[in-house]
Amino acid sequence: MKNFRGGKIVGNGGRWQSLGLPFVFLLCISFFLAGFFGSALFSQPDEWSMQPRPKPRVLESVAEKSTAPEEDRRFDPLAHGKSGEGFLTSIPFQVLSLNPRALYFPNFATAEQCQSIIKMAKVELRPSSLALREGETEESTKGIRTSSGMFISSYEDKTGTLARIEEKISKATMIPKSHGEPFNVLRYEIGQRYQSHYDAFSPSEYGPQKSQRVASFLLYLSDVEEGGETMFPFEGGVNMDSNYDYSKCIGLKVKPRRGDGLLFYSLFPNGTIDPTSLHGSCPVIKGQKWVATKWIRDQEQEDYYPKSN
Ligand SMILES: *[C@@H]1O[C@H](CO)[C@@H](O)[C@H](O)[C@H]1NC(C)=O
Repeated sequence: MKNFRGGKIVGNGGRWQSLGLPFVFLLCISFFLAGFFGSALFSQPDEWSMQPRPKPRVLESVAEKSTAPEEDRRFDPLAHGKSGEGFLTSIPFQVLSLNPRALYFPNFATAEQCQSIIKMAKVELRPSSLALREGETEESTKGIRTSSGMFISSYEDKTGTLARIEEKISKATMIPKSHGEPFNVLRYEIGQRYQSHYDAFSPSEYGPQKSQRVASFLLYLSDVEEGGETMFPFEGGVNMDSNYDYSKCIGLKVKPRRGDGLLFYSLFPNGTIDPTSLHGSCPVIKGQKWVATKWIRDQEQEDYYPKSN
């Protein structure tokens, strides 16, 4: 009520009559306007509110862009095929890049699932190895990949965690689970890294391939205090013509966060290797990095199912 100058109505409702009709009329108008704009504020928040309403932080919602009335935007599941589902699935992702095709999946797995995978892997860690090119030896490639790791298939995990993760990966990629190699669970300690490399095997360097890696899905099992990013030094086509030092941590970097997923494609849709899919793991500076990698191939994997003997 402070806003009303003149002071006569302040703190006392009994003197309305003495104010005269014009003032009351004005008062009514202002209440009406206040009500009108007040309601408009709720129905059209973007145009009318004084402070912009906090938007969902990063979610670009389809509904927001749509001009269709609210009721029409609801979506009921359709009749589905034998292998389909009667419900909608939502797996949020962010497009990190189109060169290479890289998607980020926040909270892809739960903290419990991550802990369970680490627990399984911990007891079986061995120094990670490399696929060697012609002329390379274990000695000559020392220092390129310094993590420890182990391989585990989903059928070996009695808790069912890996099977659930695998299921979700196959939904996110629409590539059948049977095209996946066993999970490679890796641990990087301080200073440990993986220099930039391709996950796909170029036949000119590695000889003829029975099958090729199409895509890689990395599930970060831990946060890393500092360092340990997954880097794409050629992202967007940069650094490619210079003499890039493969141990250098440059380009697009993805910070590991427990439960988050990173998917990128090593091949173009036509099956040739995407040169921008070069990537590596920056050295861990502080803390420890745990990651589960799933390499996805163009052929079904013979060892995907447990041996039936
Ligand atoms: C395959 O696709 C890439 C990207 O579109 C293109 O640059 C390349 O020339 C294609 N290669 C062949 C052999 O078709």
